[in-house]
Amino acid sequence: MDERLRKEVANWLEFYREMGIGELDLHGSGSAIHHEATQPASPAHRPPATSHPDHDGARKQLEGQKTQPPLQTVHAAVREPMPKSLSLFESISSIPREKETLEEIRKDLGDCHRCRLSSGRKTIVFGQGNPHAEVVFVGEGPGADEDAQGLPFVGRAGQLLNRMIQLVGMKREEVYICNVVKCRPPGNRTPLPDEIEICSPFLLRQIRTIGPRLVCCLGAPAVRTVLGIKEGITKIRGQFYDFGDIKALPIFHPAYILRNPREEKLLREDFQKVCDFLKSSR
Ligand code: URA
Repeated sequence: MDERLRKEVANWLEFYREMGIGELDLHGSGSAIHHEATQPASPAHRPPATSHPDHDGARKQLEGQKTQPPLQTVHAAVREPMPKSLSLFESISSIPREKETLEEIRKDLGDCHRCRLSSGRKTIVFGQGNPHAEVVFVGEGPGADEDAQGLPFVGRAGQLLNRMIQLVGMKREEVYICNVVKCRPPGNRTPLPDEIEICSPFLLRQIRTIGPRLVCCLGAPAVRTVLGIKEGITKIRGQFYDFGDIKALPIFHPAYILRNPREEKLLREDFQKVCDFLKSSR
């Protein structure tokens, strides 16, 4: 295997490891990741290119990279050079600014069966909140409570999110809350790359339509999907990134804080940044 291909494969393996997939079945005996995409891949969820792990690097990759080949299986990934990484960040400037409404996007999503998550869900959790919000919070995916109620962040993590929102003088109704995927992953596992790839164009359209000033990415999967950054959340939380013509802020996922309550003060700090940013950019 030549060096470039070796790096590509290593990059993919690292990507899947970070997405919580410990083992890959490369011989086609039915592992969860052996799914051909049913539609062309969006650019939102590919592993970062070997030489561009950071956001600035991702921006450089934009040049000369308009068309995307379809999603490839892991088999194919091993045999063929992979397309370079594109995150929602990169797509946000390339899709037309036509104004569609959230209702239209919801209608287009329909009774979605585009990926395997549809088979285990009770309800599609599209998103909730102010269609003209200044800040959009993006979580990972619905849990059991959200799946039952059809609303994002209504369980314990949601209560903590509400508390943080109130703490900085905002109301939940003022903001918009949604997730990287709109259906509950079985057992609340991390959404798989192809699930995110299929679902995230709807997230992108929601963000484009709302036109917020700030997108808060709650946890690593949201950061990776929106910004294409693969660094750990602990390292990059609380730092503002450009996301097209708006800003994005990686923040700990509230569920992480519930498991690590001693970190709550960091979450408060980051919410204070949200508040300061919204005040200063008015
Ligand atoms: N966790 C998430 O990431 N999203 C929700 O909607 C609820 C919990």
